[in-house]
Amino acid sequence: MTTTSTPHIDPKGVDIAETILLPGDPLRAKFIAETYFDDIRCFNEVRNMLGFTGTYRGRPVSVMGTGMGIPSISLYSYELIHHFGVKNLIRVGTCGAMQKNMDLYDVVIAQGASTDSNYLDQFNLPGQWAPLSSYRLLEQAKRIADERGQRTHVGNVLSSDVFYGADPDALGRWMKMGILAVEMESAGLFANAAAAGVDALAIFTVSDQIVTDAKTTPEERQTAFTSMIEIALELA
Ligand code: HPA
Repeated sequence: MTTTSTPHIDPKGVDIAETILLPGDPLRAKFIAETYFDDIRCFNEVRNMLGFTGTYRGRPVSVMGTGMGIPSISLYSYELIHHFGVKNLIRVGTCGAMQKNMDLYDVVIAQGASTDSNYLDQFNLPGQWAPLSSYRLLEQAKRIADERGQRTHVGNVLSSDVFYGADPDALGRWMKMGILAVEMESAGLFANAAAAGVDALAIFTVSDQIVTDAKTTPEERQTAFTSMIEIALELA
């Protein structure tokens, strides 16, 4: 199924693995590849949205930045699925915790991703569709996290189109529906994966606590992501 290049991905003959980790920041993709992969090859530099393929414990795996927001992750994940045959797409990112019992650096695994985006409208469904992650990947990630003694929260996240929202009460209404955390991409990823019959998951590190207003620093973030990334890599 491999296409040679798409509008946003030009691998110049480098393979893209069936399993890919998807951080928002392309420099984090480079960091993950350089820290964890053997036999690294760069497969994308278009718009500096860096992508790398290598091996992790002998198994082929790729990593690529997605940019921020549902439009950005959706176009990259569409091309990865439909033109390059990617089958397991695992978003790794940060989120804002929306429940009191959550601490900075806790890991959140998205079982579902509610959204205020219109992205799902294009599927023309006669009702509200619930974007869910792959149960197979979810169950494996939870088991790996438990084995590592990593504290996790599993449930519904909010993929929001707005970071600086005009309605100060909006997040509170989502909190009352049990939303664990806010981020900006997973609903688009889960919808694309479901429409194509492939598997997707999203794993986050809590970078800010919206209820208590606690925040991590950019330096702290870089190192705190290790646990989340290692859980994701074990899925390859
Ligand atoms: N909002 C949206 N996305 C985020 C946040 C947030 O507060 N924190 C980390 N990613």
